[in-house]
Amino acid sequence: ARRRKIVAGNWKMNKTVPEALALVRDLRGLVASLGDTVEVVVAPPFVALQPLHVALEGAPLALAGQNCHWESSGAFTGEISAPMLAELGCAYVIVGHSERRQLFGDTDEQVNKRAKAVRAAGMTPIICVGETLTEREADQTLAVVERQVRGALAGFEAKDVASFVLAYEPVWAIGTGRNATAAQAQEVHAAIRGLLERLYNGETAGQVRIQYGGSVKADNAAELLSQPDVDGALVGGASLKAGDFAAIVKAAT
Ligand code: G3H
Repeated sequence: ARRRKIVAGNWKMNKTVPEALALVRDLRGLVASLGDTVEVVVAPPFVALQPLHVALEGAPLALAGQNCHWESSGAFTGEISAPMLAELGCAYVIVGHSERRQLFGDTDEQVNKRAKAVRAAGMTPIICVGETLTEREADQTLAVVERQVRGALAGFEAKDVASFVLAYEPVWAIGTGRNATAAQAQEVHAAIRGLLERLYNGETAGQVRIQYGGSVKADNAAELLSQPDVDGALVGGASLKAGDFAAIVKAAT
């Protein structure tokens, strides 16, 4: 395939700094032998970014922020900006995760502003989209995902979007142990790629990497990742143990 697979571990609000350092130490050894056929990313809590940036020097593990504000600096108590993350060595920033949307009120417009800030700071956004169970049962999956993708990408040009990572994460599959089937994932991934072709062009659509997220585990990763439009995984729970995460990374090679 033309697209290099990308497996990212979203640690969410887990791991203290010492725990984070121990996890990447184990992970580093486990992924070292896998070569560079798959890109591996970890998204720790903000406070662990600087120590991991130091610890990971020269390692084949990229860092990601889990969110960022859209302004570069200013009176926004409790927020973190994109330039701050870039300076700590982040290559990626997750934007629009369903937990941000559901628990913290992120709108499509805010996700778009965050993605623009990430791009402007020289990093790559990992833009998350996905329907709730109610939306799936009402047959609105593709409409919801299309609205979220259009909203997140508003104002971007093809040359920006080509390098972006999208993550399809059905909300009903996140942290539930109930992953989408490979066929369900492929259907939505193909629809997203079709939308990108309509919005931009075939070449751009063919370059964008689309991860699947939602209860990815070592034992379902290979099947999900074998789908033609599934270009990687965004892993939550199973990224918190080095052995489990390394097994998922291996399934992507
Ligand atoms: O960002 C990761 C996702 O929310 C998936 O989480 O693997 O624990 O279901 P999970």
